[in-house]
Amino acid sequence: MRCRLLLSALAAIATAADPPVATSYDYIVVGSGPGGGPLACDLARAGYPTLLIEAGTDQGDNPTYADMANFNEAANDDATRWDFWVKHSDDPARELKFEHMTWDSGDGTFYVGLDPPAGAKQLGIQYPRAGVLGGCAMHNGGVCSLPQDDDWNIIVNKTGDASWEASKMRKYLKKIEKNDYLAAGNADHRYTGWLSTSTSDATWAKNESLPMTKILKEMARLTGQNPNDTANLVNRDILGAYTNKDELTSFFSMVQHADKSGKRSSPNNYIRATLADPAKYPLTVMLNTLATRVLFNTASGSTPVATGVEIMQGGSMYKADPKHVPGSKGPLVQLAAKREVIVSGGTFNSPQILKLSGLGPTAELKGFNITVIKDLPGVGEQLADNYEGSVLGLGQVPVDGGLITMMFRTNATAPTKKRNIFTWCGAFSFEGFWPGFPTYYGPNQYTCAMVHMSPKSQAGSVRLRSADPQDVPDINFNFFLNNGDRDLAEMVEAGELLRKAWQAAGAPVLPFKELHPCPGTNAGANCTDASQAEHYKLQAYSHHASSTCAIGADDDPMAVLDSKFRVRGVKGLRVVDASSFPVVPGAFPVLPTMMISAKAAEDILADAGTR
Ligand SMILES: Cc1cc2nc3c(=O)[nH]c(=O)nc-3n(C[C@H](O)[C@H](O)[C@H](O)COP(=O)(O)OP(=O)(O)OC[C@H]3O[C@@H](n4cnc5c(N)ncnc54)[C@H](O)[C@@H]3O)c2cc1C
Ligand SMILES: *[C@@H]1O[C@H](CO)[C@@H](O)[C@H](O)[C@H]1NC(C)=O
Ligand SMILES: *[C@@H]1O[C@H](CO)[C@@H](O)[C@H](O)[C@H]1NC(C)=O
Ligand SMILES: *[C@@H]1O[C@H](CO)[C@@H](O)[C@H](O)[C@H]1NC(C)=O
Ligand SMILES: *[C@@H]1O[C@H](CO)[C@@H](O)[C@H](O)[C@H]1NC(C)=O
Ligand SMILES: *[C@@H]1O[C@H](CO)[C@@H](O)[C@H](O)[C@H]1NC(C)=O
Ligand SMILES: *[C@@H]1O[C@H](CO)[C@@H](O)[C@H](O)[C@H]1NC(C)=O
Repeated sequence: MRCRLLLSALAAIATAADPPVATSYDYIVVGSGPGGGPLACDLARAGYPTLLIEAGTDQGDNPTYADMANFNEAANDDATRWDFWVKHSDDPARELKFEHMTWDSGDGTFYVGLDPPAGAKQLGIQYPRAGVLGGCAMHNGGVCSLPQDDDWNIIVNKTGDASWEASKMRKYLKKIEKNDYLAAGNADHRYTGWLSTSTSDATWAKNESLPMTKILKEMARLTGQNPNDTANLVNRDILGAYTNKDELTSFFSMVQHADKSGKRSSPNNYIRATLADPAKYPLTVMLNTLATRVLFNTASGSTPVATGVEIMQGGSMYKADPKHVPGSKGPLVQLAAKREVIVSGGTFNSPQILKLSGLGPTAELKGFNITVIKDLPGVGEQLADNYEGSVLGLGQVPVDGGLITMMFRTNATAPTKKRNIFTWCGAFSFEGFWPGFPTYYGPNQYTCAMVHMSPKSQAGSVRLRSADPQDVPDINFNFFLNNGDRDLAEMVEAGELLRKAWQAAGAPVLPFKELHPCPGTNAGANCTDASQAEHYKLQAYSHHASSTCAIGADDDPMAVLDSKFRVRGVKGLRVVDASSFPVVPGAFPVLPTMMISAKAAEDILADAGTR
């Protein structure tokens, strides 16, 4: 398959940002995504002059981004797309078996597939990110769920900081949420925050003659739910508070960060609302500005102190941006922060910025002649992600119905009863990411997509390729390196359960022609557990990267942050984004990242003035 390398001709080098209104800032926040965007707003709203630096532009009014339904178009759009070409393993032969391996054909087009044209240059596996005001919350699917309680409690265990207890985290959901799907008065939610949450209509599930409803009832039967109650169960609140919530196998309503009219809600809205009242809130936003490193004062004593950031002005300065003009460079400018610098560039960029600033593994930094400010061997390591795969097939006719969302536990004999699989099924296709994704297989397409919620390996890394801040780092997820066989067995079992449920669809939908992981029309009889595990091992994808600047224990050499997001060994510097989590936060990271952004604002404001 081919598609154009640049969707529009070089969209000019965007102009540098308007001159900042203030020249002196208490806080400088780098990156306006779910980690940094809300945090900068909270600091400004507390009265502190704050500068928010964002490499991208503002697309808040562009319908591709503003209408949630356009999310696939948004993630493909070269107005904001940052292409990271990643590896899933160290094994080049295994990489070449990835069906959506992407190549530069050399004629301005990408080739995606297993049989590249002669002379094509292998790029890697596309991992989309959004370089835009609001970060990846501007192009994502907006799916919201809460982490498992252990994903919070593990931070208490590691650091002794009881403020991370799972029971105390709902207050951050309640700090940000503007619930647009529940009747007023639900004490577990808020209705007046900045982040709209909504669900889609599920009345289709009342219609017992729809093939999707038949599948739904069979899924209920196979997972121990009451098939007679599915029309109610599909409306269960996924963000609700439940006793033993992590052991609750159930359908849920799919919640997205959008309002009920389908308008995307994201940090972009909060930033705009904050900028709208400059007399009250001293927030300055610089767009088209690439932060190149954090500046330190190393003279004052034994502990280096972050004093500001260096920026490169101009649009599309980062080479992940398909609009980047080779060789283009903007002027470098240094900006001072009176109180603190907060890095929120996301899981790939935050470790890169730290390393370029002299914080990281000494040997790696020395290899690029970067002056070491503090040896931090954990920066860029422990890269984690949810494994994702799908069961994809074609009915004989369209599979009518809506969207099924379910969390469940595979393996009845496992020592834990905690849910490990999040699945959503419907008449769509989703097989991961590549230029031009997803493939449309026609009106009969049907997918159960699944996210493994607690991957047992987090052996990936983000490492520098050079000391050039415009360069993209080298990213290898090392999928399934540790205990991969167990995670693969869990995905196989989940896929088998879903496939079994499909057989309840009845005529005229059956038989499904499955495309993967078990091609054929005979309901899985055509392959083995081993062949399915091999499929998931080679074709798994992901888009929830985390943990490259992780919070950890005082005595853990791989810990990058303390429990208050402070970078260890220096002063005046924090990292607040998806890279801060020590383990993946459940099935979907965007809501947890906005929750920790609110927590970090509280921590920073508590320290204000003490530095
Ligand atoms: C296609 C796609 C779909 C997704 N769907 C979902 C979903 O449905 N649900 C879910 O929970 N999660 C989803 N995610 C993941 C989720 O969006 C991310 O986990 C989340 O946005 C991470 O937030 P962050 O603040 O850590 O980083 P980001 O969102 O990546 O934000 C980082 C920001 O920093 C800026 N930046 C980086 N480096 C610099 C620099 N040097 N100078 C200046 N600015 C810089 C970037 O431009 C960006 O705006 C999806 C992700 C993708 C890619
Ligand atoms: C935290 O530590 C306690 C006591 O060692 C242990 O029982 C529990 O499983 C740990 N929880 C997590 C999430 O690590
Ligand atoms: C239920 O679905 C069937 C099959 O699509 C359709 O013919 C029927 O009108 C639907 N019933 C209701 C009440 O919507
Ligand atoms: C579902 O309803 C049928 C018919 O009313 C009934 O026989 C069956 O016992 C019910 N199942 C459960 C699990 O309640
Ligand atoms: C580092 O500096 C040394 C000495 O100046 C030089 O020889 C070497 O090429 C430099 N390495 C890199 C990666 O720039
Ligand atoms: C189920 O769990 C048991 C006990 O942990 C483990 O030995 C077995 O491999 C698991 N099986 C699958 C299919 O995950
Ligand atoms: C079994 O799978 C192969 C491809 O792997 C396919 O060609 C064949 O038709 C399948 N058989 C059946 C009965 O579906």
